[in-house]
Amino acid sequence: MGVSILSIIYIVGAITFIIGLKMMSHPDSARKGNIIAGAGMVAAILGTIFLYKNADGSGLQNHLWIFGAIIIGTLYGVIAARKVKMTGMPEMVSLFNGLGGASATLISVVEFNHLAELNFPAELSTPGTMAILFSGIILGNITFSGSLIAWAKLSGKLKDFAFQGQHIVNILLLLASIVLSVYISSDLQSENTTILFAAVFLISLIYGVLFVMPIGGADMPVVISLLNSLSGLSAACGGFLFDNKVVFTGGILVGAAGTILTVLMCKAMNRSLTNVLIGSFGGSKAAAGNKEQGAYKEISLNDSAVVMSYANKVMIVPGYGLAVAQAQHTCHELQKMLEAKGVDVKYAIHPVAGRMPGHMNVLLAEADVSYEKLLEMEQSNEEFPSVDLVLILGANDVVNPAAKSDPSSPIYGMPILDVGLAKNVVVVKRSMKPGYAGIENDLFFQPKTSMLFGDAKKVLQDLITEIKSI
Ligand code: TAP
Repeated sequence: MGVSILSIIYIVGAITFIIGLKMMSHPDSARKGNIIAGAGMVAAILGTIFLYKNADGSGLQNHLWIFGAIIIGTLYGVIAARKVKMTGMPEMVSLFNGLGGASATLISVVEFNHLAELNFPAELSTPGTMAILFSGIILGNITFSGSLIAWAKLSGKLKDFAFQGQHIVNILLLLASIVLSVYISSDLQSENTTILFAAVFLISLIYGVLFVMPIGGADMPVVISLLNSLSGLSAACGGFLFDNKVVFTGGILVGAAGTILTVLMCKAMNRSLTNVLIGSFGGSKAAAGNKEQGAYKEISLNDSAVVMSYANKVMIVPGYGLAVAQAQHTCHELQKMLEAKGVDVKYAIHPVAGRMPGHMNVLLAEADVSYEKLLEMEQSNEEFPSVDLVLILGANDVVNPAAKSDPSSPIYGMPILDVGLAKNVVVVKRSMKPGYAGIENDLFFQPKTSMLFGDAKKVLQDLITEIKSI
């Protein structure tokens, strides 16, 4: 009886994941989608703890350990998620991915030990089972160590590291772990099985470290998304091993969503995944090709306020600096003030503006900016010719014309917001320092462009005061 109720709970849980994921694809329903999927997960966990029955009919015994771990994990998760700043989100996602990978590895290790205790009976240690078990270990370990390195690099604790021939070493390590897994599975009764199993474990951990170490900072979100999809696949292996449909479905969904996101990010940067993984774009070494630039011109707060107030159409381009300054609320205030003066205000959103997918959408949604006001890159580029003033708030790489005009630029080929098509451009940033890709931006030196230096929040507050007095 218990088992059949548990099966129903698993199916309902799996359905909530699918519905939740679908709802997460729109900002209006994302929060609710998250809660629905979370409720499905809680039901599946509680169902397993209280309704799961072993072959001899006994239930799970070690409740103290289970609830101890759940309480500690939940407390840590809630505190970390509440405390994290928007700009620290990729680091936290990376850490959580890593823990997902580690859990998947542990599932495979437990199953391996279980089979070893039974002396690998042929009916339980089929080639299919062993393939899934080793896939779980290899994928889980790569996710775990790779995500920890990604976390350390994002939080500035580690720098990029590469050595000559590293890609060859990486490929050899990956091949070694696969070949060893096949070898172990072909002769499980061998006395070397345990030691070789430990070797696969270690090699896959080392591969994760060496795989992420050389990848440049600006590419880290793509890598995190890729590791996210690997964590899903490793979890799916765990679901397969224990014939647990909810873990399997959840893993496959994470794997598929992570893969789609990885592909979309690569497309938005016009780069192939191979180029991201073995290229050096955005690495510490990619620093500015400091060629001689002309002079740039500055604009005063008062002049900017006047141009904005008398414009018909203003397009705001938010970037990473807006998130750093936490100026989203002030930005919305400026938007409302301009609209009250009859100005048509919209936002041009570049898919990789900021430091994580959807960063600008989430940031502006936090300040209650209506979703209809946000234009995607293609729409924005169509509208720019009819825009009187583009106000760039802490964006840099995503408006860099070198992506279109300079084949030697590391961002060449990345689609950009074509702000140069508008009549005037005002750029708000603190200095002439480059953005994440570490390269100069010709836009700042073009005749249509004026620089308005300062912290985005402070500048916006001052602009609001100026506009009030017009
Ligand atoms: P960036 O090119 O990184 O430029 C941000 C600019 O904001 C900087 O030039 C900085 O100039 C300015 N800034 C920083 N703090 C500020 C503050 N408090 N007030 C005002 N300005 C401030 O940002 P972007 O244009 O959004 O481009 C994103 C970059 O990240 C791209 O290279 C993209 O490929 C990369 N990336 C993003 C993603 C995702 S998924 N979003 C994924 C992979 C890579 P100052 O220091 O002079 O102020």
